[in-house]
Amino acid sequence: MKNIILLFIISITLSACKSTGEVKNKKADNIAITSTGEKPLLLRQPYLQMVRPTTTTITWKTNDLADNCLVVFNQIDKQNKKVVKGSLVNHEGNKFNEVVLTNLKPSTTYTYSIYSNGHLLASGKDYHFTTAPNHKNKAFTFYALGDIGAKEGQSFAIEPATRITELNQKPDFGLGLGDIVYPKGESKNYDNHLFKPFQEVFKNIPFYPVAGNHDWLSDPEKNFEKEWSLPGNEHYYSFSYSNTLFIGLDSSDGGFYQIEEQLAWLKQTLKENKNSFDWIIVYLHHNGKSCTYKNDYEHVKSLYTVFANNKVDLVLNGHAHTYERLKAYDEFGNVDNTINNQSNYNNLKNRFISITIGAGGKINKKWKADPSNPENCKDGSIVAHSEHVPSFGLISINHKKLIFKGINSYTGETFDTFSITKN
Ligand SMILES: [Fe+2]
Repeated sequence: MKNIILLFIISITLSACKSTGEVKNKKADNIAITSTGEKPLLLRQPYLQMVRPTTTTITWKTNDLADNCLVVFNQIDKQNKKVVKGSLVNHEGNKFNEVVLTNLKPSTTYTYSIYSNGHLLASGKDYHFTTAPNHKNKAFTFYALGDIGAKEGQSFAIEPATRITELNQKPDFGLGLGDIVYPKGESKNYDNHLFKPFQEVFKNIPFYPVAGNHDWLSDPEKNFEKEWSLPGNEHYYSFSYSNTLFIGLDSSDGGFYQIEEQLAWLKQTLKENKNSFDWIIVYLHHNGKSCTYKNDYEHVKSLYTVFANNKVDLVLNGHAHTYERLKAYDEFGNVDNTINNQSNYNNLKNRFISITIGAGGKINKKWKADPSNPENCKDGSIVAHSEHVPSFGLISINHKKLIFKGINSYTGETFDTFSITKN
């Protein structure tokens, strides 16, 4: 095939592959991007992960033809381009093209183009990312939803994805609350069930999922972990953003992955960070107490004391395909009935709010949210707001104020909102 040579006037940073972790910097004034052989087929649009203050991971999937990959990027308001080479990972007959950008500026927006075998596969003003802040004063927004990707006709994942792209204030990242891909978390279903409906979101906004019971129906090592680049062991991990610590847990089938190690890690992480952040948000797949059609999960309930006594503010979960916000819980797992206003909380102290956001792509059509129905739960008085609609959560944090919105995935309307303010 005829070679195509593209010239850029750039400074170049050459980065080694993820597998080695080595970084070599080499300055040059010019670079020629030379195509080598046949153009690989782009099977999955690029998606962002691990967008930190100075680093970002960009991944895309091609067929097996790819031998090399690189990203060309520049600050959105500057012409100076940089090139970073990446690595290729074989998976089920295709290639993950993964490029780790380093030495970025915090809180800065960049546009990017992706190349495999020197062939341009995606480019343009719609391909951009913004690095995380390196201080704790930045206001930010994130979305959260669980139980997302199923086959056409069984999932409405395109609806929350579309609403998220339409938001005036684009979220800085998203949380996936487990059951990311149905029916069994298989890699072969990730493209049609998740990445295609979410491609316009994922190319600009990083995603941090945790595994749910359906993701565990296939070996996560050969599926879930192949699809994502996440912190730590990729099952349970933490990351910070501005003044907030996020902790993702792997509740597996409700019994927790490596339960002793994971809970020891959770307690240690909370202890170490108890006074370092204004907000702590935990997310996992299974619910503790609930007035949905799901059972209460004892392992989650047993963590209420840990959450409440270590300044956790929100606990977000999926699993039940509905929306349910509970009243503030104390460390004994009881509703604090001294709080009358369930819309504006002040100084919750040793209290946290637990919310099920599990209608991200599936909804239980045979069930109705009705906390007064004893078939749904033992005690409906624990519920602050329930609404049985396709939905996602949108959370904004600005210094000492958190605003939560439950948003209808079809209409974009906010059907539930509350705030927490701290002194
Ligand atoms: Fe589930």
